[in-house]
Amino acid sequence: MSDQFTAPITTVAEIPALRAMIQTQRSQHASIGFVPTMGALHSGHVSLIEAARRDCDFVVVSIFVNPTQFGPNEDFDKYPRVLEQDLAKCQSAGADLVWTPTKEIMYPPHFSTHVTVETLSQTLEGATRPTHFEGVTTVVTKLLLSCLPDVAFFGAKDYQQQAIIRRMCLDLNIPVEIKTCPTIRDADGLALSSRNAYLSPAERASALALSRALKLAEEKVRAGEADLNQVKAEMRQLLNTTPLVKLDYATIVDADTLEEISSPQSEMVALVAAYVGATRLIDNSRLSLP
Ligand code: PAF
Repeated sequence: MSDQFTAPITTVAEIPALRAMIQTQRSQHASIGFVPTMGALHSGHVSLIEAARRDCDFVVVSIFVNPTQFGPNEDFDKYPRVLEQDLAKCQSAGADLVWTPTKEIMYPPHFSTHVTVETLSQTLEGATRPTHFEGVTTVVTKLLLSCLPDVAFFGAKDYQQQAIIRRMCLDLNIPVEIKTCPTIRDADGLALSSRNAYLSPAERASALALSRALKLAEEKVRAGEADLNQVKAEMRQLLNTTPLVKLDYATIVDADTLEEISSPQSEMVALVAAYVGATRLIDNSRLSLP
C-alpha cells in the first residue's frame, strides 16, 4: 500500500532556501531547468515543464502572479489563483521543485530597480500596455538571478515576451539559455491561455477569429502573396467583422526586430491582439515563404 503513496511536490518561498536546494543539485552536477509561470497552469505550461524534464536533470517551476506587469485597469485582482491544482500539474509533468515567492519577497520595501528593454518593448503589446514589459523584464531578471538555471523555458504564444527576454539576457550577460517552446492549441485552433477561462461560450467562439486570421496569413504567404499589406488588410477585415471582437493589432513583422514589413522575407511572424468581450487575447504564427 505504501508504494501507492506519492509525497507532495516540494515547495519553497524564500530565496535563500531556493538557492540552497539548487546548490545541492549543482554540487551533484545536475543541470537546472526553470519554467517561470504566473500559475493557472494549462497544457501550454505543462508542455514547458515536460520540455524542461526532457532537457535538464532538475526542474524548478515558479508560480508568482507578478503585480508589476498588470496595468492599472487590468485583471491582476481577478487573475486565477489555483495553487493546489497547479502543484498537482507541476508534479505530474515532472517538476522537482515549485518556488512560490510572495509579493514581499519579490518586492521588499524600498524596491527601486527596474529593467527596461528599449525599442522591442515599445511596439505591439507595449504600445497598448506601456508598463507591461518593464514589469515582465524586472521580475524575470529577479527570477533568473534567484535560480540561475542553465535553461529557462518560455512559450511561443508570448512571442514578443520571449524576444525581449532573449535580448535582455544577451544585453545583461545573464548566463541562461532561453528556449522557446511551441504554442499549444485546443483542437479548434484557439491558443491556450490562462485568460481563456474568462470567456463566455459566445466569446470563446468569437476568439477563434485570432487563429483564423493567422491561418489566413500563413496560407496567403505560402501561396506566394507578395503584398503583405494586402494580407494584413485581410486579417484585419476578418477580425473586424467577427462579433464581440475589438481588434488591437494584426500585423506581420521581422522575427527579430519586430519591425513591421510589407514584403515577405525568410524570418517573419504574424501577430494579432484583440479584445474578445473584456478579455485581451494575443496569438502569433511564424510565416513560411512558398
Ligand atoms: O509569461 C508569463 O507567465 C509571465 O509573463 C512570466 C514570464 C512568468 C513573468 O511574470
